[in-house]
Order: sequence, then structure tokens, then C-alpha cells
Amino acid sequence: MILPIVAYGHPVLKKKAEEVEANYPDLKQFIEDMYETLYASSGVGLASPQLNKSIRIFVVDADPLSKEYPEAKDYKKTFINPEILEYFGDDFEYSEGCLSLPGLYEDVVRKSKIRIRYQDENFDTHEEVIEGIPARIIQHEYDHLEGIVYTEHLSNMKKILLKGKLRDISEGKVVVDYRMTYPNKRRKR
Ligand code: NI
Repeated sequence: MILPIVAYGHPVLKKKAEEVEANYPDLKQFIEDMYETLYASSGVGLASPQLNKSIRIFVVDADPLSKEYPEAKDYKKTFINPEILEYFGDDFEYSEGCLSLPGLYEDVVRKSKIRIRYQDENFDTHEEVIEGIPARIIQHEYDHLEGIVYTEHLSNMKKILLKGKLRDISEGKVVVDYRMTYPNKRRKR
């Protein structure tokens, strides 16, 4: 089932998400719904808080970027209770977008490599070093679990310049071709 994505300004996007236990109700179905929603909105990553569920899960499918970034080929993975243990490598800048902030793309500087520990859908634990575009997507999605939206990484000047645009997003004054819920949508008179 395709679920609505919450827009910027919703309090759930500011919350630190809760750990997930293996017996969480309907978890398998929820993860399937996350992928369905991701594909319906043509994204490459989606975190649970964006579906108004404040639990520590995100899904990544980087494959649509594989033309430009070969390491993205077939990179599809579910991350449950992830912990980024280390950020390292070079700083690199990349134009990020977010399904909760439709129409907005801004350059964000992040590290090129991470070491991450996480559980898969079977709750088996993995520890991996990840680099390239998957590392970029994972850092963005991981931030969502910590209650951080990517615009928080921008300079104060940039944040001031974006204020109006962010307000428009939270009020639903955007053109978007997937289902969303807007925290500050005004009712039509
Ligand atoms: Ni995002």
C-alpha cells in the first residue's frame, strides 16, 4: 500500500525515532509499504518518520542513480536500528533532495565513507563500510531517524533565504505527483 509522505514542518520529522523490536506488529508489511511508497514517489531512500511512524527503519534503493554512479547498481537494502559508528574519508558536496521537501535541491557537504551497524529484515546484525552514493543516501536517511532534515546542514544565510520556500512546502503550496500530508495546510474557504 502506498502511504502518504509527511511534508516538512511536521513535528514527527523533528523527533528522534524509537528502536524497533523483531515482534513489532506488521513490520514485514510496513517495510513492503515503504518500498512501494518509495517507488511511487521515484525516490532513492525513505525513512519511517516520513510516513509518520517514528521508528528506526529506512529503506534505500539507489539503482535509479546507477547510470551516473555504478556502485548504485542493484543497491537495495533495508536498515533497521542502524548506528553510524564512524564518518570518514573526504568531504564531498552533492545536491540533495528529500521526498518531504518536494521541489527543493540544495548542495550538502558530507563525508564520503561511513561505518554502519544495522539489522536486516531478519534482524541479523551487519557491520559494513559503505562509500560512494549509497553512503550519501544512508547519511541523509539516518539523519531522519535522528530528527534532522537536510536543510539543517545548510549555512544560516541559506536557511534564511529558504524560509519562504519551506513555509510553502509545509502549507502544501507545491506541485507534487505523489501522496503527501502537509502539517500547515489551510482549509479552503
Ligand atoms: Ni529525506
